[in-house]
Amino acid sequence: MSKLAVVILAAGQGTRMRSVLPKVLHPVAGKPMLQHALDSAMQLGPSITAVVHGHGSEQVRQTIGDADARAWVEQIEQNGTGHAVQQTIDSIAGSDRVLVLYGDVPLLTARTLQTFIADSSYTSLGILTMCPADPHGYGRIVRDSNEQVSAIVEQKDATPDQLEIGECNSGILCADTQALIAWLKQLDNNNAQGELYLTDVVAMAVADGVEVASTVVADEMEVAGVNDRVQLAKIERVAQARIAEQLLRDGTTLADPARIDVRGQLCVGRDGFIDVNCVFEGEVTLGDNCKIGPNCLIQNSVIGDDTEILANSVIDHARVGDNSRIGPFARLRPDTVLAGNNHIGNFVEIKKSQVGDGSKINHLSYVGDSEVGKAVNIGAGTITCNYDGVNKHKTVIGDRAFIGSDSQLVAPVTIGDDATIGAGSTITANAPPGQLTFRRPKQQISLRGWKRPTKKGN
Ligand code: UD1
Ligand code: CA
Repeated sequence: MSKLAVVILAAGQGTRMRSVLPKVLHPVAGKPMLQHALDSAMQLGPSITAVVHGHGSEQVRQTIGDADARAWVEQIEQNGTGHAVQQTIDSIAGSDRVLVLYGDVPLLTARTLQTFIADSSYTSLGILTMCPADPHGYGRIVRDSNEQVSAIVEQKDATPDQLEIGECNSGILCADTQALIAWLKQLDNNNAQGELYLTDVVAMAVADGVEVASTVVADEMEVAGVNDRVQLAKIERVAQARIAEQLLRDGTTLADPARIDVRGQLCVGRDGFIDVNCVFEGEVTLGDNCKIGPNCLIQNSVIGDDTEILANSVIDHARVGDNSRIGPFARLRPDTVLAGNNHIGNFVEIKKSQVGDGSKINHLSYVGDSEVGKAVNIGAGTITCNYDGVNKHKTVIGDRAFIGSDSQLVAPVTIGDDATIGAGSTITANAPPGQLTFRRPKQQISLRGWKRPTKKGN
């Protein structure tokens, strides 16, 4: 099998982003642009992937991280795309073919690349071209009288006639490794920008009698690069539309495919339904027949089968079991695990707690650092007082316990199985199983014959 080296150019500054974050780290669909390029590259099974980094080197490398067969190549001064690829010569030397990608072109799919590599495999150099509505700024593809590619001319070096050419260079190319290395060594900066242009290898190949293969990309967005946040926003929408389409194909109904945002990985079961304006971040899994109401934010969580998340709920690093109903306006915070058949109602916040099968917390409660048993009913306005101002303490509530409304359970405290807590109690000591425990001042007093005050002088 022939060995493929992938070179990803990611050293540019990205001045027009007006950002302290290096351009290639700006996320698209929750993932840095450079990672998109790397993920597509990985699917081609390369023997090595060389990433050319420069601006924000340290941060880029730290964020993306190391991997097998990944070489980080620093380009200290950015003297052009040809200069960038020159830096990788040692890394790519052992390969048979080289594919050059850009770190700021996140929508390019492995499928398109596979076709491109296959289409150009008969010759020593292939380029991926495009015909954008506005070719301004791009290198133009110059062809001879036989329609063979003869050169790429950059916008700033082009003659008026050449500027009329509609076919442009996407920047992506594929070459025989040894031939490319030989051409790279001949590059000069004798051009309008005083840079080493990678695109000059095309004319060198032609001079060597090489036929340059060209493939016009079917979907121009695949090769769209990001130079500013306007382009970033457009590319984000395209990425989101792709994800939404995949969700529909995977068997989830979307109330509006244009009003869902997935920033990470969303795995869905069958027959799900997602209403408008939901945001999914990190890794989220939804079971079969799961319904998500409007305006929910779900991050790094697993939601079981037949469970319904009602409007305006926020779920972060939590597990929700099967057949449950969460919200509206519920907040499940990290390390919340709901076993299943649960009802969690409006304005209920649960943090770092396990809630057993069939238990219900329906209204206006805070449950934190707790272990709640099975078939427990926690009444409206119940608070676990888990924090003494310094340390967090645990609340344990046994199976089938009933916590009356407006109770405060001052942790550490244990409520036994089948215990009942009277409404309005502040519980500071363990409540025994099976008994009614309550704390209350003397029963209220009603005064017979009492009269409402009246205004003086009447
Ligand atoms: C380049 C192509 C142009 C093509 C266009 C497509 C050249 C000379 N021109 O132009 O034909 O139409 O892309 O978008 O290749 N980079 C480095 N180091 C450098 C310079 C650039 O890593 O020294 C990286 C950039 O970060 C970027 C990519 O290479 O990811 C392209 O650089 P850019 O400056 O955007 O190239 P263009 O001038 O737009
Ligand atoms: Ca560019």
